[in-house]
Amino acid sequence: MTLKIAPGMVTVGGVTLSNHCILAAGVLGTTGSSLARALANGAGGVVTKSIGPFPCEGHPGPCVVEVEGGLLNAMGLPNPSREFVSEVEPLAGKPVIVSIYGGDPGEFRMVASWFEGIAAGFELNLSCPHAAGYGAALGTNPLLVEECTRAVSGLGSPTWVKLTPNVTDIAICGKAAERGGASAIVAINTVKAMRISTALKRPVLGNRYGGLSGKAVFPIAIRCVYELYEACSIPIIGCGGISGAEDVIEMMMAGASAVQVGTAVKDDPAIFQSIVSHLYSSEGVQAETIVGCAHE
Ligand code: SIN
Repeated sequence: MTLKIAPGMVTVGGVTLSNHCILAAGVLGTTGSSLARALANGAGGVVTKSIGPFPCEGHPGPCVVEVEGGLLNAMGLPNPSREFVSEVEPLAGKPVIVSIYGGDPGEFRMVASWFEGIAAGFELNLSCPHAAGYGAALGTNPLLVEECTRAVSGLGSPTWVKLTPNVTDIAICGKAAERGGASAIVAINTVKAMRISTALKRPVLGNRYGGLSGKAVFPIAIRCVYELYEACSIPIIGCGGISGAEDVIEMMMAGASAVQVGTAVKDDPAIFQSIVSHLYSSEGVQAETIVGCAHE
């Protein structure tokens, strides 16, 4: 890869990061110490596991299976709810974005309020494809996207909105988030998917269907970021199948100002150091010069 970008602190969607590569929600984000480790291992910022209004055990297993090109998961949003505040408190001042979910705008605002003054920002999970009454159940309705976003952005902290690709036109949801006062859009969450065990003659996931992540979804993520960049004015954070510096550059060319890395961390916990070492050079170009350049 020849194209590299100049290193330095970067501010995206109101959050200052030490580089352009952020740990995605749901991966290593379940404890304060695993979040701290991801930062120490080169992540420019980290997003926590999604936290909701009530403690949740998640779906019955199997919850994660490996498939060609990625992972299929139906975790079911397991989380300790408000107790998670004590995990994030020691990290106040660091680029820790708390992923939150709720069943309506009021629940989103309530969960966010627990982390005010502790979180560097919030990421609204309006996109989990397999949680009844949560995630994409709201995030496929532009009016609810706008209202949930407004409920959290009104608190004054940076508010990122993670969108689902499981819609006909993701730009409609992006514009709804923008109207609601989002500081950035994160695209994409997992693609709704399933596998069936031919031996057992039943779906492999306990929840029957789940969400596909990993390399297989990278072209879908690129397409979504490209469409959002054409429609929206706020920064876009690309997520979905990124596993190397070249993927980061491609995502930026589609329109992303930063990226999130999730599934690839499973195969290589040191992936942030590896991406960063290939992405940056003191002779590199300013990132802004390549963000969205594929549209020109
Ligand atoms: C889960 O916990 O089920 C995954 C979360 C998500 O897909 O947003």
